[in-house]
Amino acid sequence: MVTVTALAPAKINLHLAIGSRRDDGFHDLISLFHLIDLADTVSVTVEESAQLSISVEMEGMPPVAQNTMEVAARLFAETLQLTPSIHIHCKKVIPDQAGLGGGSSDAATVLLILNHLYGEILSCSALIDIGAKVGSDVPFFLGESAYACVEGRGEILTPVNCDRSLYGVIVIPNEFRISTGRAFADLDALREKEKIVPRFDDKSELITRFLQPVDQWDFSNDFRLVLDPLTPIYKKLDVIVAQFPGCFSTLSGSGSTYCVVAEEQGKIDRLRTKLEKMAANVTIYDIKSLHRGHSGDTVLL
Ligand code: C5P
Repeated sequence: MVTVTALAPAKINLHLAIGSRRDDGFHDLISLFHLIDLADTVSVTVEESAQLSISVEMEGMPPVAQNTMEVAARLFAETLQLTPSIHIHCKKVIPDQAGLGGGSSDAATVLLILNHLYGEILSCSALIDIGAKVGSDVPFFLGESAYACVEGRGEILTPVNCDRSLYGVIVIPNEFRISTGRAFADLDALREKEKIVPRFDDKSELITRFLQPVDQWDFSNDFRLVLDPLTPIYKKLDVIVAQFPGCFSTLSGSGSTYCVVAEEQGKIDRLRTKLEKMAANVTIYDIKSLHRGHSGDTVLL
């Protein structure tokens, strides 16, 4: 019996532009993904006689409907024509339906651990093919880079090699959640009604802008168009963040997480004090950049 444990970190989207709905129902997008230090812990144990089994430990969180880790493990086993005799245990910290990629990162971590246990039998691109079948955000978590420009429906990655460290907070409304599918559908409906043509950024121009200081960023998230009419929280948070020069804020994924980053921890500390006083009914987490391989004690594959 052998067990391998690894961190499954979350991401935030520093920028997210969504194209039109494709024939397969998905949307082309262009996004800047950034790995952060908020992480689940995933353990995979190979047990000769066992079937595939999963246990999830999550404090105060509702059970996740479809388990991405199970889908990932089954697809991995199917690809190699193996019997998945494994137990997966996940200690969840990343909130669900928050736009932080928790389920996708858990699935990617299962794939990375399994590939490690089977002697790196599959190439990175083969793992990405499996990952993309599990979910659109999974390929990013199979990469090594803390920053990447992500295109297609999420499977085309351009790593941005940059050792810049950012500090931040993420703010999660306690009573507002929206599913990814609904956010995309609402965006399509709104664009059709108001005849809005999606605007797409050029990848190299986006990366050049990313390399500028944070206070010069003008990144945005198209989902604000549909989320702002549903809740006043993001506009209220914008007003607070605007009082703190050097802090950049945006929505992550299709919500509900609002994230703020800066180049110095001190700026975030001052903002956090203000947020704790002003923003009601939210949960605030401290975050910082995660550069794989520099993550402390727990194994990162
Ligand atoms: O791939 P994932 O499971 O994360 O997608 C959830 C839903 O979000 C999809 O069923 C689809 O409706 C929508 N989606 C999309 N375009 C993407 C990613 C997700 O329309 N690029």
